Amino acid sequence: MTANTVGRLCFRNVNALAPMVRVGTLPTRLLSLDYGADIVYSEVSLSVEKVQVLETVDFVAPDERVMFRTCEKEKDRVVFQMVALLPLGTCFYIFLFVMCRENDVAAIDVNMGCPKEYSTKGGMGAALLSDPDKIEAILRTLVKGVSKPVTCKIRILPTLEDTVSLVKRIENTGVAAIAVHGRLKDERPRHPVHCDFIQAIAEAVSIPVIANGGSLDRVKAHADIEEFRKVTGASSVMVARAAMWNPSVFRSQGLLSVEEVMEEYLKYAIRYDNHAFNTKYCLCQMLRDKVESPLGKQLKSAQTNKEICEGYGLQEYYKKTQAELQARREAIQTNHNH
Ligand code: FNR
Repeated sequence: MTANTVGRLCFRNVNALAPMVRVGTLPTRLLSLDYGADIVYSEVSLSVEKVQVLETVDFVAPDERVMFRTCEKEKDRVVFQMVALLPLGTCFYIFLFVMCRENDVAAIDVNMGCPKEYSTKGGMGAALLSDPDKIEAILRTLVKGVSKPVTCKIRILPTLEDTVSLVKRIENTGVAAIAVHGRLKDERPRHPVHCDFIQAIAEAVSIPVIANGGSLDRVKAHADIEEFRKVTGASSVMVARAAMWNPSVFRSQGLLSVEEVMEEYLKYAIRYDNHAFNTKYCLCQMLRDKVESPLGKQLKSAQTNKEICEGYGLQEYYKKTQAELQARREAIQTNHNH
């Protein structure tokens, strides 16, 4: 599938990596693209910095944490997700947007489905679902103010009628697509996904609907993604947990062993200097019930990417990559001095 044939991201007939706090960092996104994901989603961050040595663009929080690191390789297929910060008003979006420079990403998504308290207590995330006027205002402002496609991600409402009515209002704002996590705000990931709601939404609107919520019971491998698309009648599918456990879920030739995938993940983590805690976190998600294995124990005790590499026998790769990065650092320094 080609998500970006005419320079503008297309949301029809695509398989997407869902936005996931902590999991959806650059190594996971690049690996998912390698395995066949058409689009990869990210999450919110603040200011922008170019890191010459790594050849990345970083969005950095005021405490200097790298919130979002991106690179040329995913530029045409990465969707930058923001959470609606309503107390600051709609102007916040424009402000955020100028800062995050839309040219570094392929599309912008607004998260209206996050049920976590830190999100909803400020009127953000899923709290927005009960305020369609605000949803409309935010999306219209963004669609008008930004040249890249704008999408949003919602959860379903208690009745089909209300859900379809909300989705139609969202469609009228001019968004390029809508991702629907087929669960209610108060439902947990273990609850079955409401495919019938997604199907009704897909029938009611003409913009692409991206079905989400199938991991665990429905989506385990690539063939299941297609099946989920059929069952929901949606245009596209977005996968979160199944990709967190094994990003090769996007691979049309079938799943790879998690050991092989972890190694590839770690290579990206080294190449793009991913924070060691984040690298550990993502690898632990892939290990799942094997976190108590010898490898899992070694991983847990590792404090740096170098130590993590030792557990995977990737010391040589680590050394070689560090040498390459150092050579680039020196070349940049020499350039600056001249
Ligand atoms: C999520 N989810 C999520 N959704 C979102 O819109 N923004 C986010 O930042 C996150 N963060 C996040 C982190 C982690 C670790 C998980 C597991 C999930 C929700 C996610 O995108 C998706 O909607 C649900 O997980 C349902 O899809 P699956 O898992 O059934 O494919």
